[in-house]
Amino acid sequence: GAPQTRTPTGAETGAPTIANGQQGAYLTTANGARLRDTDHSLKAGPRGPVLLQDHHLREKITHFDHERIPERVVHARGAGAHGVFTAYGTAEAVTRAGFLKKGRETEVFVRFSTVLGSRGSADTVRDTRGFATKFYTDEGTFDLVGNNMPVFFIQDAIKFPDIIHAGKPHPDREIPQAQSAHDTFWDFVSLHTEAQHHTIWNMSDRGIPRSYRTMEGFGVHTFRLVNEAGETVLAKFHWKPKLGVHSLTWEEAQLLGGMDPDFHRRDLYDAIEAGAYPEWELGIQVFPDTPEETFAGIDLLDPTKIVPEELAEVQPIGKLVLNRTPTNFFAETEQVAFHLGHLPPGIDVTNDPLLQGRLFSYVDTQLTRLGGPNFTQIPINRPHAAVNDMLRDGFHQHAVHAGVAPYRPNSLDGGNPFPAGDAEHAFVDVPVTVAQAPKVRANPASFDDHYSQVRLFWLSMSPVEKEHIIRAYTFELGKCYHQAIKERQLQSLANIDPVLCEQVATGLGLPAPQPTTPLVDVTPSPALSQVGREWPSD
Ligand code: HEM
Repeated sequence: GAPQTRTPTGAETGAPTIANGQQGAYLTTANGARLRDTDHSLKAGPRGPVLLQDHHLREKITHFDHERIPERVVHARGAGAHGVFTAYGTAEAVTRAGFLKKGRETEVFVRFSTVLGSRGSADTVRDTRGFATKFYTDEGTFDLVGNNMPVFFIQDAIKFPDIIHAGKPHPDREIPQAQSAHDTFWDFVSLHTEAQHHTIWNMSDRGIPRSYRTMEGFGVHTFRLVNEAGETVLAKFHWKPKLGVHSLTWEEAQLLGGMDPDFHRRDLYDAIEAGAYPEWELGIQVFPDTPEETFAGIDLLDPTKIVPEELAEVQPIGKLVLNRTPTNFFAETEQVAFHLGHLPPGIDVTNDPLLQGRLFSYVDTQLTRLGGPNFTQIPINRPHAAVNDMLRDGFHQHAVHAGVAPYRPNSLDGGNPFPAGDAEHAFVDVPVTVAQAPKVRANPASFDDHYSQVRLFWLSMSPVEKEHIIRAYTFELGKCYHQAIKERQLQSLANIDPVLCEQVATGLGLPAPQPTTPLVDVTPSPALSQVGREWPSD
């Protein structure tokens, strides 16, 4: 019987396909009929009227009318590039992922983004940046969908619509486009104090990167790695830029927002075209996979917490080089669809409740954004591993599937044309024990500490970085209309550090409140400061 393989695409076979849409020397309709004129509608005489029967006119305008697809609901503004990831082999002991074996080279596509602005917004606004990487591994695509900050605003995905509603422009005025300078943002983060950690990263120089090339990237969540022997560890992913971590000053960011809103996009494109290929090292922090899923008292399932590098070193496992710009922004940067569930054997998820909700959200939104369930057939999303699925039909189906029995086992298409259980390359869900506990809508108590790591971050900053943070809070809060919101945020600042709180309060012309929780005694972490933070080159 015929195997139920997906028909190879033209790009794979080298044959011309409709996908490139530009074969032949003549201008044609979409159906290939040669055109003699594309500049005039068909009219009843030169003075009209225009005739409804003009298929070329209707096709040209109808297609144009439908050119735009919805922008991403978040991370709408982005820039992408192709590259190569080369593994050092240093992760082989902890993961069986083939692409991490020594010397393996894997093609990648990376999309950097801002989070809150719309597709046409400026690059240099104060915001978190997305850092999403698609590794086209021969064991299936691995998407590492991270940010340039190692923590997130919320601890549970059920709050994601809420934080984004608060961060997006006000519903009445549709301003501001992409800054945190508004009431709803500060209302949210002062009411949901777990957001204070991510917020101080935004108020620091990390919120205004100089270039995508000088940003760190973080997988944020803790992942579970599994090796050949089935042994597991917990791990966090880090990208370290070879050029070091650098930011704009706030004044530069504001000027560039007006003078060159495409500053980061242009910088990435120009650097690659000039042969100055951006590079990052991928590293992992590795933790024992204990039943508590904690390390040094830090809950590894809490996405508002980091593990300081002094406690768990970031161990380099490979190098990324971006060496090719997209040739068509829409086809590549706009249509690319990342998903945390795209995991190769050797990398698995944990029960981080934010991660678990993300596993649902991305496909769900892409069904709308990319017009149905077949977006993995879009060239940029096609796996480089062979695909042999039993998914059929649906809008925008491009494959012409062979065979009559898209189910298994079957007795019509050769029984089991796709053998299951290929032990070497198959994905295995790690059989983690699930807690025997009553169903609850609650967080573990270990998620309740909202301030100690914010204080750690603040105390780790150099004097100039502290000055920038004070000015950022003062500027952004100064834009709020509601005094009660400013006062509530000052209360959070008091719980982080009295100096920070006093300075911002002075800038706002408001009294500085006393802390309502005891200030935690923390040792500053030099690795959190950007000052002198160069990444050693090879
Ligand atoms: C898009 C990162 C949390 C929903 C993105 C993108 C990145 C990202 C980098 C842009 C992908 C691209 O370039 O196409 C993160 C990180 C998170 C996080 C690091 C937390 C650690 C969440 C949560 C949800 C969510 C909790 C929902 C429950 C989405 C959606 C998109 C998106 C719907 C748009 C995807 C698309 O249209 O293709 N996220 N995100 N994210 N994220 Fe997240």
